[in-house]
Amino acid sequence: MKRIAIFASGSGSNAEAIWQSIERGVLEAECVLLVTDQPEAKVLERAERYGITSFSFIPKSYASKADFEEEILVLLTSLRVDYIVLAGYMRLIGEVLLSAYPSRILNIHPSLLPHFPGKDAIGQALAANVSVSGVTVHYVDAGMDTGPIIAQESVEIEECDRTEATSRIQAVEHRLYPRVLQQVLNQQEVFK
Ligand code: GAR
Repeated sequence: MKRIAIFASGSGSNAEAIWQSIERGVLEAECVLLVTDQPEAKVLERAERYGITSFSFIPKSYASKADFEEEILVLLTSLRVDYIVLAGYMRLIGEVLLSAYPSRILNIHPSLLPHFPGKDAIGQALAANVSVSGVTVHYVDAGMDTGPIIAQESVEIEECDRTEATSRIQAVEHRLYPRVLQQVLNQQEVFK
């Protein structure tokens, strides 16, 4: 069974959707670590509820991104992590992790990329008055939400306020991410 580590910075609703899918047996994977750059993040409470080991760190207390990524990599290696799954991790992945996990880092983003990359994609879509936005799952590269797209699903947000747009988009995220993750794990199994 493939071993994953989830990286998150915030609430962790996507992380929880993945843990639920694993518990229900619809996602065949083992989550062996949660990594967060926000020691106060709500995702830590959720991890505890699911019995997931977590590692929190304060980026500013390291001299560089390479330094904290090296420390994370030691952990990932010791836990034999196969895939890194970003779930609201609001930080660019650096060279240390990218070269250790080529095509083995996934991200979810709340827009139809390449539209509205970066922070507050839902707010950006609402401000642009688009009637349809959506969700993208993609492989991670050095850019901001720029890696090869694996799956997308559109979501109608016409006449939605922020609360409604967010709840529609998150509902799709929670369904899509575990499913796409399973597909990626299956495919890479076949090609191995
Ligand atoms: C999700 O909507 C995710 O797509 C987004 O952060 C939110 C995290 O929510 N990620 C990005 O914007 C990445 N650029 P969650 O903590 O409840 O899963």
